[in-house]
Formats: sequence, structure tokens, C-alpha cells
Amino acid sequence: MKQSSFFHHLHPVTIPERESRFRYTFGLGGLSVYLFIVLAVTGALELFYYVPSVDRANSSVQTIQYLVPFGWLVRGVHYWAAQALIVIVILHMLRVTFTGSYKRPRRFNWLLGVSLLVFVLLLTFTGLVLRWDTDIEWALLVGTNLLKSIPLIGNDIYGAVVGGQEINVDTVVRFYGWHIFGLALLAFFVMVWHAFRVRRDGGISSQSTRAAQTPGDTPRPRISRDELVRKEALGALIVTIGLLALTLAFPPSIGPVGNFRQLTEQAAAPWFFVWVQQLLRWGDPLPMGLLIPIGLIVIIALIPYAIDRSQTGVARWFNREGRVAQLVIAAIVVGMIVLTLLGLMPA
Ligand code: HEM
Repeated sequence: MKQSSFFHHLHPVTIPERESRFRYTFGLGGLSVYLFIVLAVTGALELFYYVPSVDRANSSVQTIQYLVPFGWLVRGVHYWAAQALIVIVILHMLRVTFTGSYKRPRRFNWLLGVSLLVFVLLLTFTGLVLRWDTDIEWALLVGTNLLKSIPLIGNDIYGAVVGGQEINVDTVVRFYGWHIFGLALLAFFVMVWHAFRVRRDGGISSQSTRAAQTPGDTPRPRISRDELVRKEALGALIVTIGLLALTLAFPPSIGPVGNFRQLTEQAAAPWFFVWVQQLLRWGDPLPMGLLIPIGLIVIIALIPYAIDRSQTGVARWFNREGRVAQLVIAAIVVGMIVLTLLGLMPA
């Protein structure tokens, strides 16, 4: 019987067989969408108990964790889905790079993807600040102070983000606003746009599109979307079990209220910004904390526009035309991992 649920309609009726295989996409884009939905649902549930005020933010998180029935579960899944999303989005970016799927006509969608990567990092950063505990001292003091190092407009940007010229009673409301409306809502629209562009650009990148247009060429086999939706449902189930297991084994921490006047010795960046913390040990905030990270994002964004403008090699793993782009991305990701490991080593 033909299936036609909402989820089926998100896909074209048929999909090229080769490119719908797990070993082509590893389901990473679909998993990112799923994790985003999990985050939206669990985040919405947390909103019923979270109080964005300096006096009550920390205690309201404690309430969710220890008093609200299943609050620990909702909070744990929200936390682990956010950590998983960072890893999965980066892996998805690597898959897209190594299969040359950023090339025309998908260049603009690559840009949307890069903005989603930035959204995902900022969302997790602002979400952690909402705990208002000792673990977020680095994020709040060092992270936001980087903004002040921007010439001319730095103080104004800092004021807009933090709600004043230092951490104050309004800061938690600002981060609450940024987390939910400034970032999550916007990221949702960009994600829908990204998914729409996948279809608009002719579906998932495939070697078959061009070949089938050549007279006399036999189009490559395609499968029905029912099969893909079944695989996606299985993937979602496995990920859900993984999130539940992580929540049970490693519940997210919540410490006492932080002291945001002065940085304590143990203050550390969240794991996904340890590489920036390490760079900051070697130089001034403006170059190390802002120019290098922003420069790397710009380099990634420019890959299909400046580094590999070829149109061949699409949907081919490690295609020759895209070697430089692949090396650039690999160097950036490996560099970040090395800096993170250096940053995690005891001083
Ligand atoms: C929240 C973040 C993201 C979500 C939810 C998402 C979702 C998706 C989905 C569902 C697909 C189609 C199937 C697949 O490849 O698995 C896709 C394809 C694509 N994504 Fe993403 N993505 C995200 C981030 C990114 C990032 C960081 C990049 C690159 C920097 C990127 C670039 C692309 C491109 C170019 C395609 C087309 C690939 C092809 O046709 O083979 N995306 N994305």
C-alpha cells in the first residue's frame, strides 16, 4: 500500500538508489533535523519551569533536575541532543565536502549549512549560560568579553548581547531571549530553507542527474521514498535510545550559582570552544578569539566559491577536483581537534 504521511511528503517520490544508501549520507542531515526537533520539544517542556531571572535561574534548573517528575529526563535529553547535534552537523559537513556535494547548484545551500553550523554552536553556548552556575563562568566572562575587543563597535555589541557594560541582572533574560528567539527560531527557519533547497537543487546530489540527461544513457536505479522513511524512522529510534542511555549514564551537571565578578582558576570553556580557549592562551583576544574563528568560518563558506569552483566530481567520494577543498576542511577540523586536546591537557 502507498504511504503518504507528512514525513513521506518531505521527500521526493523516488530517490536515486546509490545516494540513498546509508554509506553515502550516513543519514547525518536527517539526524540533524531529528535532533533539532528533539531539542525543540524538550526545550519547550523546560520552559514551563525555567525562570529567566538572576535570582531564580539556577534554582529553577535544580528544580527541573531534582523535583519535577521526569524533569531530569527532559533536561538530560535536551543536553545530550545539543552535544550530539554539534558532532553530527560537523560530520555532515565533512560528508558533503568529501562527496563534492557543495558544488553548483548546491553552493547557496552550502552557505545555509555554514550558517546552521554557527547557529548550532551559539545555541549550545547560550543554552549553557542559562544554567547560571559555576561551570559557565568562562563562557560568560571570557566568551562575551571577546566582543569588547572589536574596534569602535565592540562595546555596543557587548551591550546588546549582555544587556549592559558588565554582567548584570538583565543578562540572564538577554541570553534567554537570544537562545529562544534570536537563535532557535531563526535557526528553525534556516533549517526549513536548507531542506527546501535540497529539493529545489534537484534532490540529494547524485551522479545520475547528468548521466540520465545524455541521450542513450540509461538512468540509474531509483528507490521509493517509503524505504527511505523506514530507514529514517529506524535511525531516529536508535538515536533516541542513545540519548536516553547517555542521560541515564551521564546526567548533565548543575552546580551552585556562579560568581560572575571574577574568573576562578578552574573556569573552563565548554568542550566545543576549548580550541578557542587554547588560542587565547597564546595571544590577544581580537586576533585569537575573534579574527581566527571568524576567518575559519569565512574560509569554509568560500569553499564552493573560491577554493573549488569545478562542477565535476559531484557525489564522488574524495573526487580529484575537490582535493584542495577536502584538504582545507580536513586541516581545519584536525587543527581544532589538536587545539582542543592541548587545551584539555593539565597546564
Ligand atoms: C542543523 C544543521 C543542519 C541540518 C539540519 C541539515 C540537514 C540536511 C539534510 C536533511 C540534507 C539532505 C540529506 C543529507 O545530506 O543527509 C542536507 C544536505 C546538505 N547539507 Fe545540510 N544540514 C545542516 C548543516 C549543514 C552544514 C553545516 C553544511 C555545510 C557547511 C550543510 C550543507 C549541506 C549541503 C551542501 C547539502 C546538499 C548535499 C547533497 O545534496 O548531497 N548542511 N542537509
